[in-house]
Amino acid sequence: MGYSRLVFSVIGLVVHLWDFSAASRINLALSGTALQSSTAQGGEAERAIDGNSSPEYAHQSCTHTQEEKPWWRLQLPGVYRVSEIEVTNSIETRNRLNGVEILIGNSLVNNGNDNPRCAIIYDVPGSITQTVQCRGMEGRFINFYLSCATAEVISLCEVKVYGELLPPPPSITIQAEERNVTLVGKRLCWSDALFYCRAYYSDLLSIRGPEDQVMVDELVASAPFPLTSQLWVGLRRSITGTWFWMSRDPMDFTQWDTVSPHSSHCGGVSSLEPSKWRQSSCEEHLDFICVTGPTEGVNKVRFYSSTREKQTQCV
Ligand SMILES: *[C@@H]1O[C@H](CO)[C@@H](O)[C@H](O)[C@H]1NC(C)=O
Repeated sequence: MGYSRLVFSVIGLVVHLWDFSAASRINLALSGTALQSSTAQGGEAERAIDGNSSPEYAHQSCTHTQEEKPWWRLQLPGVYRVSEIEVTNSIETRNRLNGVEILIGNSLVNNGNDNPRCAIIYDVPGSITQTVQCRGMEGRFINFYLSCATAEVISLCEVKVYGELLPPPPSITIQAEERNVTLVGKRLCWSDALFYCRAYYSDLLSIRGPEDQVMVDELVASAPFPLTSQLWVGLRRSITGTWFWMSRDPMDFTQWDTVSPHSSHCGGVSSLEPSKWRQSSCEEHLDFICVTGPTEGVNKVRFYSSTREKQTQCV
């Protein structure tokens, strides 16, 4: 008896210390806004970030959706590096969180449900609140998504998010007639650079002719921050070996460097001799050039990363 009481008090102490460190951290979710696919039973999306962790639906602090493939989304006021997320389930309907994916990223394609996955959560007997580690995944949007067709309800009683704000990367923009072209000083693999441009701008740059090439030269010459020796643009090579622009602009104009064999599937421009285009391994982490322009009638190449459950999407 005495022994088990000792064990209990030790557990109590550990829990207390853990609570103390948790209390010294800031729950980022409180500064965000929430949205969900649909609402039923008065379960508004904001209830999951109302600061009230009660797991009882009657306390009017849990959310409730009602249509298939439901999602709930937290929109943070900036881009954060997320370390962990604490989720409080509903005590009456715990099985509803079974299989819910937690996704983090900057894209709103498919309502944010195509972003990379941090975890899938399951009901854990005995613990109504669970913590998942996201190991520094970056994003503005955190989605809870149930993709199976038979499920209709996501019910969250509280979502707490911990992490740190990421400063925006350095960038420089040139305004052209119809497009704004921005060189971004952030080293990403080609596919992450594409996702980044499509989330914050329109696309990775396509160089359609000599005027665009001159613009790239100017951008590189005036960048007030150090650049990687090559910069990603929207150059991609198909499995059949044909290069194309992700924007689907025609490739009438080319500036390929010498005769290097085309064995890779991603292309960029040299920042040392900006007029030269060079292919590189898609995995290389390089600065990149985005473009903002008219979106109407634009039919850009869809790009879906089949490895989105991985930490990085580099393909
Ligand atoms: C380019 O940037 C300017 C200044 O920020 C803005 O007014 C304009 O709408 C932008 N043009 C495009 C096509 O995004």
